[in-house]
Amino acid sequence: MPDSSESDLIDGRTLSQAVRDDVQSEIEAWTSDDHRPPFLSAVLVGDNPASEAYVRGKEKDAAEVGIETETHHLDADTSQEGLLDLVYDLNADPSVDGILVQLPLTDNINEQTIIDAVDPSKDVDGFHPENLGRLMRGNPRYIPATPYGIMEMLSRSDIDPEGMDAVIVGRSNIVGKPLANLLLRRTANATVTVCHSRTRDLAAHTRRADLLVAAAGQAAFIDGTMVKEGAVVIDVGINRVEDSSADRGYRLVGDVDSEDVRPRAARITPVPGGVGLMTRAMLLKNTLTAARLRAT
Ligand code: GUN
Repeated sequence: MPDSSESDLIDGRTLSQAVRDDVQSEIEAWTSDDHRPPFLSAVLVGDNPASEAYVRGKEKDAAEVGIETETHHLDADTSQEGLLDLVYDLNADPSVDGILVQLPLTDNINEQTIIDAVDPSKDVDGFHPENLGRLMRGNPRYIPATPYGIMEMLSRSDIDPEGMDAVIVGRSNIVGKPLANLLLRRTANATVTVCHSRTRDLAAHTRRADLLVAAAGQAAFIDGTMVKEGAVVIDVGINRVEDSSADRGYRLVGDVDSEDVRPRAARITPVPGGVGLMTRAMLLKNTLTAARLRAT
């Protein structure tokens, strides 16, 4: 476990706590201004243990900053129509500010159909095409929590992406693509390359990176030979690897081989204790945005 007091580490614990403190004081001001607390409705289908743990974490985080939540647990055999009916009810319910449908969904449900059905003004995940389109056009409303959290980590660590060669490994709709758009904005001004599983000579790209973002979902696959001396390394991966010496039987590792990479990197985010905590905090910020939007 890295020592989080080391100056090269970008400490997600401290930074996410600062975001949560800000959101909490903004919510205090909001409710003392005669508004009801923000309300987040989460939807969980089936019994995926990781998803259940994520949703429990989101409920706890929300309670701590003054956001009210409800979670709809639907059976694994819920039909797409059944889930759509719930989403329509939540869309129409004026007491619901934000809606979050936990992914992945079960095999019989088309994820895009559900994402498209969420009222974009309540889409605190920022996954709806209208919100992704606004982000791409440069006037975002909801920014997906992980890329939003990465941008927040950089700014709160005084890392300015302007002029940097930023290389993102991973082209998902949730992380890689929205992050590329954020780094391209005139507020960030990085030069962005997005690599993926079919990229020829990945290391040739990553070795050029001033800012390297690993978001491919593969344990410890970025090693020291792939990283430029002095780079800023953002590790988005949260991978379970078997570990019989751990109580749970597994431990969490990032997409970056941190022991190998850390000596070369100027700054690096740890796993756990890095980007994941920021993701959780930014959802709270988006839920406050949702409450404000509803009240206008
Ligand atoms: N599954 C993994 N990450 C996320 C997320 O950010 N939001 C939702 N709704 N589901 C997820």
